[in-house]
Amino acid sequence: MAENFDVKLVEEMKYYTPNPEYKRNSWLGDYQKAYDEFLADPDAFWSNVAHQLDWIKPWDAVKEWKYPYATWFTNAKLNITANCLDRHVNNNRRNKVALIWRGEGGAERIYSYQKLLSHVMRFANALKKIGVKKGDRVCIYMPLVPEQVIAMLACARIGATHSVVFGGFGAAALNLRIQDAEAKVVITADIAIRRGKAIQLKAIVDEAIMDAPSVEHVIVLRRKEPLVDIHPTRELDFYAVMEDVPEDCPPEVMDAEDPLFILYTSGSTGKPKGVVHTCGGYMVGTYYTSKYVFDIKDNDIFWCTADPGWITGHSYIIYGPLAVGATVFISELTPDFPDAGSWWSLIQEQKITVFYTAPTAIRMFMKMGEVWPNKYNLKSLRIIGSVGEPLNPEAFEWYYHTIGKDRCPIVDTWWQTETGMQMITTMIGEKMRPGFAGKPIPGVTVDVVDKSGKPVQPNTMGLLVIKSPWPAMLRTLYKDDERYRKYWYTIENCYTAGDLAVKGKDGYIMILGRSDDIIIVAGHNIGTAEVESALVSHKAVAEAAVIGKPDPLKGNSIKAFVILRVGHNPSENMTQDLLHHVRTTIGPIAMPQEIEYVDKLPKTRSGKIMRRVLKAKEMGMDPGDVSTLEE
Ligand code: WTA
Repeated sequence: MAENFDVKLVEEMKYYTPNPEYKRNSWLGDYQKAYDEFLADPDAFWSNVAHQLDWIKPWDAVKEWKYPYATWFTNAKLNITANCLDRHVNNNRRNKVALIWRGEGGAERIYSYQKLLSHVMRFANALKKIGVKKGDRVCIYMPLVPEQVIAMLACARIGATHSVVFGGFGAAALNLRIQDAEAKVVITADIAIRRGKAIQLKAIVDEAIMDAPSVEHVIVLRRKEPLVDIHPTRELDFYAVMEDVPEDCPPEVMDAEDPLFILYTSGSTGKPKGVVHTCGGYMVGTYYTSKYVFDIKDNDIFWCTADPGWITGHSYIIYGPLAVGATVFISELTPDFPDAGSWWSLIQEQKITVFYTAPTAIRMFMKMGEVWPNKYNLKSLRIIGSVGEPLNPEAFEWYYHTIGKDRCPIVDTWWQTETGMQMITTMIGEKMRPGFAGKPIPGVTVDVVDKSGKPVQPNTMGLLVIKSPWPAMLRTLYKDDERYRKYWYTIENCYTAGDLAVKGKDGYIMILGRSDDIIIVAGHNIGTAEVESALVSHKAVAEAAVIGKPDPLKGNSIKAFVILRVGHNPSENMTQDLLHHVRTTIGPIAMPQEIEYVDKLPKTRSGKIMRRVLKAKEMGMDPGDVSTLEE
């Protein structure tokens, strides 16, 4: 997003230096020393990390790189849940709290490592009982409750590949993901609870599976009293299915390269990409970053406010922190309900020490004023983090002063669904630079280059690339390896992230935004093509083009240009109808903020819509090269 590029801002060298105690006490120690150690021998570096974990059989090679395919921990055998659960239970930490959940109205549930393991094993046996086998795909469409965590870990326990779909997606989006993965089982709940209201999740599943022949069973967590009716054979109650199963479920022996999960993310076509992550490398990458980026210690209480339906939840609610043996806090409460103090009250109540959230939330809090956080005692906080979109300098300052009280280091972490683990940040103890995420994490090599792959000058905009494979990298796109190869062939020998960035003279990297047709709205990736195809599937729409517009709160907002079919006319009703249609097909996160009715869209002579021209016009900027424009 070139319109965010401000040379003055990039040239300003402003830093905050954390208290030296942070570095002295950190797992990492000195950043440069760690980074140099990695560069001197990358395989030895990752091997040292991997040796901190339990393996059923060790690897023959740390890494094998056959461009663009990598194998990590070749021929090693493991089970990630044995590292997230059994490892702690067997090391005198069975009574340590693994998970604390808070719902609305003061509801609270606490799981020790032992209790979590017991639930996971029972649910894993239940899945086996209904015929789920290693390699089968299981779709999880649930609210943020402990059962979601249990369901994911239970799949991993038996080697089933989970595909978690965020509970905010609509029926068509869910159907597409179930169909693409050919899920055998769907796990859901009757309702999600949001701002005091029940959201009927199961009704969406009912609609989504009407045309999904692969689905044999639906498991329903019934939260509401009286219990909702379920179909006597096809549908099963979450807890009833766990009765009459053995207590123990030994972890399935998984090859390091066996798939762990598929997670769909938006791409630049209408079809989402099924990012495939594998067991060994993903475990090592998320364990390592959880431990060293968040510097998690035994007494920490870690809260990542993401939903497990996104990669941030997979990596930093579940697999990473549990592999470290942390106490993880999760909550179904939104930041603004019952009032704008809800999250700060939870930090005070639970004595959260490490807090990880998104710039959108931070900017929303800024807008609501300091009175809210100032009502609560936030002294327990030790480290605060950010992810999902650029943390602009104003938001950085507010977060640093108002929440961190000039004391807590901020880890602004850049990464992606595809990278699986955090890649760029300012490691604990290093000086922080507002507006800049920081430097590559030891273990990762990045650069900012031009289209030919040549590094650009400092302080100039270029494309962000990753120059060598890393353990938690995606291995392919589910059933679409051709599309996977594009990541590595857009620029020869590099992984192209699809982000624009600037590297300062000090090596710090500022992320500017996407360089492709993905819009990041409130931290959620939305493909312009996805919204366009949802609009075009409405009977009144002939053509649609969608662009992202900078938004002070959400980072970007969606604007749609629509050509109606003959016989249909623009009206407020039409707009509401189209918005509703997008809401029920993709979900509320993809709803345009604005719809403008037009007679024509700018197109190339070959008929491709030039969104760039629409955007420039919208923003009052020069559209650049329009020589390919028709007429
Ligand atoms: C953006 C989320 C700036 C970026 C973990 C990336 C960021 C996309 C940051 C991936 C950050 C993520 N600063 N931009 N700290 N973190 N992004 O797959 O554009 O949901 O390509 O993964 O979010 O989004 P995804």
